[in-house]
Amino acid sequence: MSNKRVLSGIQPTGNLHLGNYLGAIKNFVAMQNEFQCFFMLADLHALTIKTQPKILNESILNTAASFLAAGIDIKKNIIFCQSKVSAHTELSWILNCIARVGWLSRMTQFKEKAGSNKEKASVGLYTYPILMSADILIYKATHVPVGDDQKQHLELCRDIAMKFNSDYNNDYFVIPEPIIPKYASRVMSLRDGRKKMSKSEESDLSRINLTDSKDQIVQKIKKAKTDNDPISENIFSENSTRFEAQNLIKIYSNLKSESLDTVLNDFNGKTFSDFKKNLSELLVEKIQPISKKIKQYRSEDKELINVINTGSEKANHTAEKTILDIKKIVGLL
Ligand code: TRP
Repeated sequence: MSNKRVLSGIQPTGNLHLGNYLGAIKNFVAMQNEFQCFFMLADLHALTIKTQPKILNESILNTAASFLAAGIDIKKNIIFCQSKVSAHTELSWILNCIARVGWLSRMTQFKEKAGSNKEKASVGLYTYPILMSADILIYKATHVPVGDDQKQHLELCRDIAMKFNSDYNNDYFVIPEPIIPKYASRVMSLRDGRKKMSKSEESDLSRINLTDSKDQIVQKIKKAKTDNDPISENIFSENSTRFEAQNLIKIYSNLKSESLDTVLNDFNGKTFSDFKKNLSELLVEKIQPISKKIKQYRSEDKELINVINTGSEKANHTAEKTILDIKKIVGLL
């Protein structure tokens, strides 16, 4: 078995959309033959922002179903729930005592998520990157796939691991390396190319959900914002403001696993109404089989719960060894 190990996670918050698929899950599927992978439902992270219990519960199952539907193979890899492996939170406390306040206060995602009212943000939202570090280090993951928004958190995790090793004079923790996705992974809103595609944006037209029907996909792409100019190579030039055009081209390139140059070459001079037809077809071809499978898995939750429980037991097996080692290193009985 490969000794290269990946840990990654997704927060189960609402239905998954194209941004989650292209930014994370598609990469997970691509990595599963090269690495030993732990794919985590980050349900404890989902508590950092107020959620309703019923919605959280549904989201956990939807996310697990999406992992399976997208092609994660549980014979080779582990799908598990963060909250079912208590060593994550135990390690998180110990790492809280390693990390420095100054390090955490530099995290830009906290500043963005907390907005102008930092005093009212949960403490969990602030210490979230420490739990994330515990997620990674408890499995001694060698690699973590990271999109733009998690790069800084992985850097923090590396700093924590190095400080732990130096404080306790050992090399217990593996320092995890980032894996940068090959294709552009940040998917933007279909209504505003400067905003990230998000489940919290009010208009459903702004995103493609993994459970959308064929008609919904076609409609949403038809209505997606673009500009009047044809496709040309300067869409990606440095001072281009064609954000929506860039987004649609990037989505196509990623879905098709083709470089931006190839896509631009193929569609050079074409109008966006032409391009949109191709994009809708491609989306329907790739997303429809996934949405059918999600529905199938969700029609029999027992099997899904079984997958999560079995995966969590395996994860526990590895994580428990690590937490015992760490307790010994720091001098706990
Ligand atoms: N914070 C990640 C996100 O919101 C989810 C996550 C939690 C994660 N723990 C992780 C990702 C560990 C990578 C590694 O997308």
